[in-house]
Amino acid sequence: MARALVSVLMLCILAATVIAEDPYVYYTWNVTYGSISPLGVPQQALLINNQFPGPEINCSSNNNIVVNVFNNIDEPLLFNWHGIQLRKNSWQDGTPGTMCPIQPGTNFTYKFQVKDQIGTYFYFPTIGLQRAAGGSGGFRVFSRLLIPVPYPDPEDEYWFIIGDWYTKSHKTLQGFLDSGRSIGRPDGVVINGLNAKGDGSDKAMYTMKAGKTYKLRICNTGTKDSLNFRIQGHSLTLVETEGSHTVQNVYDSLDVHVGQCFTALITADQEPKDYIAVASTRFTKYDLTAKAILSYEGSTTPPAAELPPAPVGWAWSLNQFRSFRWNLTASAARPNPQGSYHYGQINITRTIKLLNSVSREGGKLRYAINGVSHADPDTPLKLAEYYGVGSKVFEYNLISDNPTDLSKITVAPNVLNATFRDFIEIIFENHEKSIQSYNLDGYSFFLVAMEPGKWDPSKRQNYNLLDAVSRHTVQVFPKSWSAIMLTFDNAGMWNMRSENGENRYLGQQMYFSVLSPGKSLRDEYNLPITQQICGFLKDLPVPAPVYT
Ligand SMILES: *[C@@H]1O[C@H](CO)[C@@H](O)[C@H](O)[C@H]1NC(C)=O
Ligand SMILES: *[C@@H]1O[C@H](CO)[C@@H](O)[C@H](O)[C@H]1NC(C)=O
Ligand SMILES: *[C@@H]1O[C@H](CO)[C@@H](O)[C@H](O)[C@H]1NC(C)=O
Ligand SMILES: *[C@@H]1O[C@H](CO)[C@@H](O)[C@H](O)[C@H]1NC(C)=O
Ligand SMILES: *[C@@H]1O[C@H](CO)[C@@H](O)[C@H](O)[C@H]1NC(C)=O
Ligand SMILES: *[C@@H]1O[C@H](CO)[C@@H](O)[C@H](O)[C@H]1NC(C)=O
Repeated sequence: MARALVSVLMLCILAATVIAEDPYVYYTWNVTYGSISPLGVPQQALLINNQFPGPEINCSSNNNIVVNVFNNIDEPLLFNWHGIQLRKNSWQDGTPGTMCPIQPGTNFTYKFQVKDQIGTYFYFPTIGLQRAAGGSGGFRVFSRLLIPVPYPDPEDEYWFIIGDWYTKSHKTLQGFLDSGRSIGRPDGVVINGLNAKGDGSDKAMYTMKAGKTYKLRICNTGTKDSLNFRIQGHSLTLVETEGSHTVQNVYDSLDVHVGQCFTALITADQEPKDYIAVASTRFTKYDLTAKAILSYEGSTTPPAAELPPAPVGWAWSLNQFRSFRWNLTASAARPNPQGSYHYGQINITRTIKLLNSVSREGGKLRYAINGVSHADPDTPLKLAEYYGVGSKVFEYNLISDNPTDLSKITVAPNVLNATFRDFIEIIFENHEKSIQSYNLDGYSFFLVAMEPGKWDPSKRQNYNLLDAVSRHTVQVFPKSWSAIMLTFDNAGMWNMRSENGENRYLGQQMYFSVLSPGKSLRDEYNLPITQQICGFLKDLPVPAPVYT
């Protein structure tokens, strides 16, 4: 009797816990090669459930996401949730430094929570140059009910997954890089895997009702080129970028560097006909353009042939960056409580200067950060560290915080460790002639300044210490520097990479290892029991849970 009562009680408690838990969103993905014709000629692409872009992930802040991925291609596979912070949980970050890849013919289920974030993000396949072949898609996170959003509900939402595109397969492109060559210029640009002719023969990608306002979610998931995005006859009201509600400035066009996402509103307040949305390359010797038709309901008038011109030069882009400001009065989930409101008043405990460099030694192209060109070991860095055998796989801190000699490049796993909760300033300095774009997993940071020339401590006087946008990608213009500030309050092993596929593939990436000082479960989760184990760790006993 007493036992039955206890069981009933247990059941009630269990039910209560289930109710109290945040909702779950489930996805099943079948990843295959398939034929698509983004530039008019059939070619092989990486598809998810027969689609490119892949199916969107759609959720609200704090939802639990479960994605069961079936790998039906002939290569190992991993997905990264670009910009999703995965608090305490680098176990699900989908980079080769954190997870064992999903082998062909097998499936693996990602489980993670989208904690205290809102906004427009994307996911992509991280191994090799797979992203150049497709496999990416949108990831949108709505505000929880009751948390006000600083603009009225739009009539509808439209994705614009834009990017440069190659007609050669990712394996051919990888072959070029492996043999020391560059992958060269892309063959075109695509919008949601398509490029309209713009001669009146195209089907509309989206149809708007006159007078209504629509929300556009724009992400550049391409391989190397910055793109300018604009729409004939319409302006864009920026409302959010990479998780932050911005001051709602109005733009004719937006420069979207590789890996970046923007959310903008457009109002269908023009003559009810068809219009062309344009994504075109910036800062390149070649001009590649993609078009998509945005129609008004009932329209029978084709779009005007003339496209709105793209802006010219670097200065325009730098000025546009400077106009992006955080809306300090908009309420929203703020994932970084310590650094959120008064980041300008926190004392910097460490300054790390990161310089990219290139080497062509022995006819082989390699890219590096502070002289180290990252190579992924067979055993993921995070797993080796957790098993207590990290030193068999990598050495911490091969690079220094203040590099002086970049003439030599070492190929090795590039792991820098940082003290949990330290407030750190990172300066990216680019001495090369090409634009760089970096992403840091696990965090959002304040992008406080971007200027031509070289950085020195006196430049701190020019930092925006009030309303810089909190985000997770940063572009660095040629012969320029960019500065970010952040609190390392998310324990884990986090990838920082060049979003340029060629640079990333050839070593321009690294990992930050941040360990919980007290090995506390409040700071980081233990190795999930479902985690795949690979490399030489397969032969070792799984350690008892490290965090308590
Ligand atoms: C995935 O797609 C392939 C090719 O269309 C098909 O053969 C396979 O059965 C699918 N697998 C799953 C799990 O749906
Ligand atoms: C997307 O998610 C939001 C928030 O959870 C929900 O209200 C909406 O119905 C979802 N839309 C689709 C198309 O699944
Ligand atoms: C593989 O998919 C099956 C069927 O959906 C599921 O039951 C199983 O848990 C998945 N395996 C992994 C390792 O995620
Ligand atoms: C910022 O957000 C507030 C609160 O939602 C809103 O009223 C205001 O219009 C926004 N300000 C700007 C400049 O976008
Ligand atoms: C920051 O450093 C200054 C000067 O060393 C010191 O006076 C101040 O108390 C510090 N502020 C905080 C918040 O630690
Ligand atoms: C970083 O790694 C070095 C070498 O293993 C170690 O001595 C140091 O304590 C670590 N620092 C932090 C902050 O974890």
